[in-house]
Amino acid sequence: MKVAIVGFGFSAEKSHVPAYRDRSDIHLTAVVDPVTARRAAALRQYPNIRVYEEFGDLLEEYSDEIDIVDICLPNAFHMEKVKQALGADKHVLCEKPLVLNKGEYHELVNIAEERKRILYPCHNYKFAPSIVHAAYLINSGEIGKPLFASFNIFGADFQSGVSQLKLELQKNQELSGGGVMIDHGLDAISVAQTLFGGSPQRISAHIRNLNQTDSNLEDLAVFCLDWEEKLINISVSSLGSIPKAYYRIQGTEGEISIENNDIFLSVKNKPVQQIFVPTHFDDPGHANWFNGLIDNLLDCIKTENTKPFPLTEAGLVLDLIEKANHSSNNGGAWMGI
Ligand SMILES: NC(=O)c1ccc[n+]([C@@H]2O[C@H](COP(=O)([O-])OP(=O)(O)OC[C@H]3O[C@@H](n4cnc5c(N)ncnc54)[C@H](O)[C@@H]3O)[C@@H](O)[C@H]2O)c1
Repeated sequence: MKVAIVGFGFSAEKSHVPAYRDRSDIHLTAVVDPVTARRAAALRQYPNIRVYEEFGDLLEEYSDEIDIVDICLPNAFHMEKVKQALGADKHVLCEKPLVLNKGEYHELVNIAEERKRILYPCHNYKFAPSIVHAAYLINSGEIGKPLFASFNIFGADFQSGVSQLKLELQKNQELSGGGVMIDHGLDAISVAQTLFGGSPQRISAHIRNLNQTDSNLEDLAVFCLDWEEKLINISVSSLGSIPKAYYRIQGTEGEISIENNDIFLSVKNKPVQQIFVPTHFDDPGHANWFNGLIDNLLDCIKTENTKPFPLTEAGLVLDLIEKANHSSNNGGAWMGI
């Protein structure tokens, strides 16, 4: 499969490209970026690819050499470029969040269906090795019936330093689509889906802007999901300087605790098992998670599965974020999903 990357910034360079480089079934053929230095960075690593300033020029001149368009642009530009790529009959991998509202989401899902192309949002936490392993332990019944989960994501106000526009984009609600909720909140919801399947029935949320003097986007969200007889309590913040993630799941027979590269499995009447699963939540590139995602994308393309799970999940996430804001504006009242 031949891939063109649109937006050669942090995510493209640190997460997508390292995975493509190690695979024989994916070939990077082109890069689009309006910034000369970013096109030069792409050429330094791949001297034989084509680089373009405009996506339209790539589609006009080099369309035959592209099967998949990989969109790694700032959030606000996803919608337009995904539409353009699907319109040119390309499969699309798009960085998260896919889009910023439900209207845009439904429009894209319809276009992908009409064109019979795969639209695959890059929900990479589903492929984080320790999350995959914990899902396996839960599904194997190791902790009995899951009852309660608590996720604590202490994110950092991370800047890639690649795009000069980035800081501006992150602070603008219209362009970014939100603060920590659309970023780590999305990931936490995706993790809950991966671990438990099914879907939540209600949400109660408290969303705050505690420390951003020059931005009105939220930097803390604490929310609780009523999820098919389980309660899932999630705190996500971008208040820290080093990203840290802790996940704890309690069931009728035991408990799983994920702390960066270790899983601790405690089952009643047995010694605690420490399982080393290199995951590196503290590395924002998450390059080693990307291979599983690419395998799944290629599988969807091969089987013509036009409803990849992350696409359904992207719709759920937008619903939950809308309800979370509504709940927070109403003192944390439960909102049905
Ligand atoms: N999956 C993950 O874990 C993960 C991690 C980081 C970022 N992301 C997502 O990846 C996307 C890109 O984030 P990033 O950190 O790579 O951003 P970035 O600013 O580092 O890179 C964006 C690139 O797009 C280019 N660009 C093209 N058109 C542009 C335009 N009209 N305006 C501004 N820049 C334009 C910029 O020049 C830059 O090279 C975002 O949607 C973000 O949420 C995901």
